[in-house]
Amino acid sequence: MTVDATQHSRTPSAEHENQASQTFPEGFLWGTATASYQIEGAWNEDGKGESIWDRFAHTPGRIDNGDTGDVAADHYRLYKDDVRLMKALGANAYRFSISWPRIFPDGAGAANPKGLDFYNRLVDELLAAGIAPFATLYHWDLPQVLQDRWGGWESRDTARAFADYAGYVAERLSDRVRSFFTTNEFAVFVDSGYGEGRFAPALRLPPARLNQVRHNAVLGHGLAVKAIRANAAPRTRIGLAENLAVGVPIIETPEHIAAAERFTREANAPYLTAILEGRYTDAYLASQGANAPKYDSEDLKIINSPLDFVGINVYVPKYVRAIDAAPGYEQLAFPKSHPRMAAPWSFIGPEALYWGPRRLMKLWNVSDIYITENGCAAADQPAADGVAHDVDRIMFLRNSLTQLRRATSEGAPVRGYFHWSLMDNFEWASGYGLRFGLVRVDYATLKRTPKLSASFFKAVATQNQVA
Ligand code: FCB
Repeated sequence: MTVDATQHSRTPSAEHENQASQTFPEGFLWGTATASYQIEGAWNEDGKGESIWDRFAHTPGRIDNGDTGDVAADHYRLYKDDVRLMKALGANAYRFSISWPRIFPDGAGAANPKGLDFYNRLVDELLAAGIAPFATLYHWDLPQVLQDRWGGWESRDTARAFADYAGYVAERLSDRVRSFFTTNEFAVFVDSGYGEGRFAPALRLPPARLNQVRHNAVLGHGLAVKAIRANAAPRTRIGLAENLAVGVPIIETPEHIAAAERFTREANAPYLTAILEGRYTDAYLASQGANAPKYDSEDLKIINSPLDFVGINVYVPKYVRAIDAAPGYEQLAFPKSHPRMAAPWSFIGPEALYWGPRRLMKLWNVSDIYITENGCAAADQPAADGVAHDVDRIMFLRNSLTQLRRATSEGAPVRGYFHWSLMDNFEWASGYGLRFGLVRVDYATLKRTPKLSASFFKAVATQNQVA
């Protein structure tokens, strides 16, 4: 009989060490994330232009229950309360997005000073509370006028207008906002919006046109990086927030790990792989054939503009195994019994928080990583004390953070974690039916009530360790 030597390696101080081993690196940032259309409301106030999400939500039948973002969580008015909530959570960072049509109601041309004023007030409030602002420039609310004029992201003109808007905002906010994300989740706004028609602008383009949208979107990102560098304060840091498809090896053996790595590179080929490598993979181009995007080498250089960090939104793992047949890997479907949270797509797999950062390091040598979103919807019924006892969200969060901590303990350069979301909000085509917040919003009164998970988050953030 063999004896496992590791069983005997525990010393009397093991419990203490165990606790220390739950700690995140010094200076790690803890924050929450939101997006303009999902929380702000005030959809047509102070000179704001219509966005494609205003138009989409105002079209009957598009959103569950006929919900719209017209009022949402009324953050436009209640932002001071919301910053107080963040402070009470022990957060020291906040990721929010800027509504392009608030700044440029006509998409381009004349700016609307009142739009920028709102973000100036928000940023000042955050800084006064000791919370570092991280601003996303595009979280899907394209000015409707650009959809009408140019077909939105079907046109390179939209990519250019995006860069102008990004440069304009960065010039005015970068004295206080140090970090900007260009875009949020290409795969969602392009594929769901222009491919499947489930999201604004509700198009179902054929493959060649869809691939061109994909290309124009990453081009817009690259042009925005350049415009921000040209206009922002010198030490401004630029990245993006991408829902990386994370290959998780089904068994942690070298062959499955290698297969999951190859999967990750190819599954992200039109987006993050292209951005970080400055080329489309051969397999991607071959798979698209005559429908592949049209571009020149100058485009690729722009797309590949150097970044200061990469943010990844991590929700769902892609379980992968090695196979003998080409391409050497296979993504495994979720069986019916796989556990999930309240959103139908929300299959649980906290290992993605470990493998995501590892992949970024290994495939592309990324030196600064943020988890820009991670979270889940839950049923969240308030208990007798008026607080939602969301033990399921706490379970989700604890497991996610344990895996993230596993990554940082092995040297993954993750600098911060943003929980999606601060408070319940407009969950796109699902409307208000899915609640993702650490804080509950009563939509009838707009009253905010922290859930039990808010206390969990606070313990984690203030101790900088899994609690
Ligand atoms: C992400 C989006 C974010 C939110 C979460 C649940 O895909 O970036 O706006 O809706 O999903």
